[in-house]
Amino acid sequence: MFRTARRTHDKGPAAEALRLVKVSRTYGHDDSAVTALDGVTLSLERGTFTAVMGPSGSGKSTLLQCAAGLDRPDSGIVMVDGAELTGGSEAELTRFRRGRIGFVFQQYNLLDTLTVAQNTVLPLKLAGRRVDRERAREVLTAVGLGDRLGHRPDQLSGGQRQRVA
Ligand SMILES: Nc1ncnc2c1ncn2[C@@H]1O[C@H](COP(=O)(O)OP(=O)(O)OP(=O)(O)O)[C@@H](O)[C@H]1O
Ligand SMILES: [Mg+2]
Repeated sequence: MFRTARRTHDKGPAAEALRLVKVSRTYGHDDSAVTALDGVTLSLERGTFTAVMGPSGSGKSTLLQCAAGLDRPDSGIVMVDGAELTGGSEAELTRFRRGRIGFVFQQYNLLDTLTVAQNTVLPLKLAGRRVDRERAREVLTAVGLGDRLGHRPDQLSGGQRQRVA
């Protein structure tokens, strides 16, 4: 079982950013069934920072995938910013993720053929939003990647790839 450690920094209006009610997720069937989440209930306030901690295999990634609408729980309710994710169609979930969710994958999921700068602005392009290349350059410079904007992911170290993601 994992646990969450919460740190409040910039507390906004008291509202729930995320709510999970009795969320369960089991992979596989019968003898090979693994219950990764077993009735998880939690509530995270807007403007707070939460770390999910626990041993390898304890269900952290499964929790985040269910919370972000990347995976569907077998039972229970997931609400993000007051909207219930669990009932929507695949297309609705996709639109929701594209507009509202930022997710850094454990394997980064950068596109190998795009540069650091292109990978960074891709989610904005897909969402049909204005791309501010100068702002992207500033942000990448702030995380120490200002001299890597034209590099591809396979030309970066693991830590640098993580910062792009
Ligand atoms: N696609 C899958 N099919 C079957 N079992 C899975 C699958 N994904 C995860 N599991 C199992 O579910 C459990 C929780 O996995 P999860 O990836 O959520 O763990 P984690 O806490 O993120 O681990 P780590 O710290 O190693 O990333 C593990 O026992 C894992 O073996
Ligand atoms: Mg994981």
